[in-house]
Amino acid sequence: MKILSIETSCDETALALIEANGGLKNPRFKILKNLVASQIKIHQPFGGVVPNLAKREHIKNLPILFNSLLKKFTSSRVHELKNQPAKLVNSLINNNFFDLIAVTVGPGLEPCLWAGIGFAKDLAKKWNKPLIGVNHLEGHLYSFLLTEKLKNQKLNNSFPAIALIVSGGHTILLLMKDLTHYKKLGETRDDAAGEAFDKVARLLNLPYPGGPELEKLAKYGSSTSIDFPRPMLDQKNYDFSFSGLKTAVLYYLRDQNPKTILKANVAASFQQAAIDVLTAKTFRAAREFKAQSILLSGGVANNKALRQTFRKLVQKKTCLPAGRKLNFFAPSLEFTTDNASMTAVAAYFGHLKKKKRRLIAQGDLNL
Ligand code: KG4
Ligand code: ZN
Repeated sequence: MKILSIETSCDETALALIEANGGLKNPRFKILKNLVASQIKIHQPFGGVVPNLAKREHIKNLPILFNSLLKKFTSSRVHELKNQPAKLVNSLINNNFFDLIAVTVGPGLEPCLWAGIGFAKDLAKKWNKPLIGVNHLEGHLYSFLLTEKLKNQKLNNSFPAIALIVSGGHTILLLMKDLTHYKKLGETRDDAAGEAFDKVARLLNLPYPGGPELEKLAKYGSSTSIDFPRPMLDQKNYDFSFSGLKTAVLYYLRDQNPKTILKANVAASFQQAAIDVLTAKTFRAAREFKAQSILLSGGVANNKALRQTFRKLVQKKTCLPAGRKLNFFAPSLEFTTDNASMTAVAAYFGHLKKKKRRLIAQGDLNL
């Protein structure tokens, strides 16, 4: 089936067209189009996302993205049907342009979510297609399926899995029994990992969006130069806390002679502290629950140092569940940050499981 998906939970207007096959046993996804209109330039002067500006941009961008999608899939017919819009629409429906519409309903910024939901409802009515609501976090969770690595691999031997979602708003560790049964093991008690990257980036006067900028700077620094705390590392639970780490950076910058501060060292040491906590808890869960795989997703999964550390640790015997090999799956880089392809993947599973979500903005929807 072809799924047209819409994602507007924060500052990216995203639209995708995906072909999904294989059911729950052997799901396969072909990305026909993945469009993202970034709003970085709009929010950069404010140092963060301004919800009403983001909403205005979504409302402006959605029809533009949809029309470009439409154009691509009808280019051969555009000439023929130039003056007959109704016919064009009918012919596209007959051509099975898409079967299902999916839209993110939460969590996220409510004015932004409403922009996507309103657009999706109008499309569903106009095209007479079913509409399904998607949890943005499930989108991230399933984004590991959007990678070349999985193309020829069966998922049968991948569960149980430990999934770590690290985004700007969430840090969640999950135990997945199979593709659709999961249980939350822990989450952040204060700031999310991405939020901490963004706040520390601001302390270092780096431009918005902070996370990727901090990673760039960290490449020039030493990750062992400053001993920042690893909050909750030794606690026997699966929760996280990043606000103390951010405050430790604040105090360090406040108390040091500005002339001796090497920002790249601060960035690299902070990044290392965050990576240490994230990986330690994930691997501990993998050992405890005898996981077959680790799944990493969310905007912070874009961080190359974090991905490399995971890749390195899955090779290390002491990190593994006794006598087992561990798979590591993370989406291709473009599907770590917000995108609509992952929304379509979650919608496919929601559709197969006949899951109904209310089509209203749910800013604090959780897993
Ligand atoms: O998943 P996402 O696009 O949006 C949310 O659902 O929140 O995640 C955005 C977060 C931001 O905090 C951003 O700074 C962080 O992901 N991020 C990164 C990197 N790329 C994005 N953090 C660290 N390193 C990166 N390369
Ligand atoms: Zn997200």
